[in-house]
Amino acid sequence: MDNGLEALMAELEQFGKDNDGSITERPRKMLNITHDTGEFLAVLVRATFARRLLEIGTSNGYSTLWLASAARAVGGSVTTVEKSPYKIDLSAANFARSGLASYISQIHDDAGRVLDRSPDGAFDMIFLDSERPEYPSWWPNLRRVLRPGGLLVVDNATSHPVEIAPFMALVKADAEFVTGLVPVGNGEFLAVKAMK
Ligand SMILES: C[S@@+](CC[C@H](N)C(=O)[O-])C[C@H]1O[C@@H](n2cnc3c(N)ncnc32)[C@H](O)[C@@H]1O
Repeated sequence: MDNGLEALMAELEQFGKDNDGSITERPRKMLNITHDTGEFLAVLVRATFARRLLEIGTSNGYSTLWLASAARAVGGSVTTVEKSPYKIDLSAANFARSGLASYISQIHDDAGRVLDRSPDGAFDMIFLDSERPEYPSWWPNLRRVLRPGGLLVVDNATSHPVEIAPFMALVKADAEFVTGLVPVGNGEFLAVKAMK
């Protein structure tokens, strides 16, 4: 990561803390991943050479920038989905400042609709960080759009165990997936799809 990007990431980390600490209205909170989760995602992308990345839940683009920086290193790019117009504007401004905009495709839509229209096996890695109660209904499409051997990463697996339990149970019960829980940041639930 170059100095300019590192400075932007540090600025966004501070902004997220200040904003979320002072604002009570949930739609206006950034709810960013932790710094160590960003490092973990970057390692996963590089280690698996994941080139076609999908992120569900952009917010102001903090996690997207971690993914995009790693995607650039392996010749890939990130498609990131967000339904809030306010956050689409915030993230677009941050992507423009980052120098990584050409590695990022922003989709302003509901993630369920985006998944519905995504082709089979379209993504090497999916990062899921959105409204957890929606995940179980998205599972058939999530598993379909992930390529064989692809990786699903889900945030908040330890910070919100009750909310995420129904989704984790679905994935764990799926014979095509091998799963694991990594206690970094807010807890990352990993699921790898069989190669076939
Ligand atoms: C936890 S925040 C994402 C934080 C971001 N990944 C980061 O670490 O910087 C969740 C985001 O998902 C968005 N979201 C919630 N439900 C959605 C849906 N059905 N489709 C698209 N975006 C959604 C919210 O507006 C919010 O910005």
